[in-house]
Amino acid sequence: MSNLRIAVQKSGRLNEDSMKILKDIGISIDNGKDQLKAAARDFPVEVFYLRNGDIPQYLKDGVVDAAIIGENVLIEKGDDIQFIERLGFSKCKVSIAVPKESSANSLKDLAGKRIATSYPETVKKFLNGQNINAQLHKINGSVEIAPNIGLADGICDIVSSGSTLFKNGLKEIEVLLKSEAVLAVSPLINQERKAILEKIQFRIQSVLKGRN
Ligand code: PRP
Ligand code: MG
Repeated sequence: MSNLRIAVQKSGRLNEDSMKILKDIGISIDNGKDQLKAAARDFPVEVFYLRNGDIPQYLKDGVVDAAIIGENVLIEKGDDIQFIERLGFSKCKVSIAVPKESSANSLKDLAGKRIATSYPETVKKFLNGQNINAQLHKINGSVEIAPNIGLADGICDIVSSGSTLFKNGLKEIEVLLKSEAVLAVSPLINQERKAILEKIQFRIQSVLKGRN
């Protein structure tokens, strides 16, 4: 019988809760931290530890069958990648923020201005949807510093506790979307592995019910 290949974030905010939910549904993995792939002990599952941003492409290509990933990453990179379950952790917003002294109150007010973001496709979608033109600058991390160093007039990034915005003298002016961790599935998954995934999904549903 073939194993279901499931991707989780290698390191970062989703990693710990992803491993916890796998453990809670009875999938235990001995992994030396620098192992990129590990087999579960008593379930036909292999876990792949990957970079967040790479996971949608692996799903698309069928290199992995399923993944625990932030919905926001799927929206940014996933096109037609579907998810079958919301997992209730890693809740966050993807928001537009500006320096607290700025007069901008919404995305519209950034027309003709520069926006720094790690989520250019998401921002583009909202700009196009409202017929707004703005200059996008893609930055991979520490986005909130961009207005302070004169690189941008506003930013779009993840807001969780709000502490990074606060520390950088920024205020949230518009929430583009709300996100949480989800169980995503490859469009190329085969029947045999789909049956394993359905078992996992069923166990996850029971665990989530117990958590509420
Ligand atoms: C993430 C995200 C925000 C911040 C939001 O950054 O990009 O900057 O966390 O969380 P908060 O609202 O609780 O402050 P991270 O610390 O992961 O670093 P990076 O942007 O450099 O990858
Ligand atoms: Mg950040």
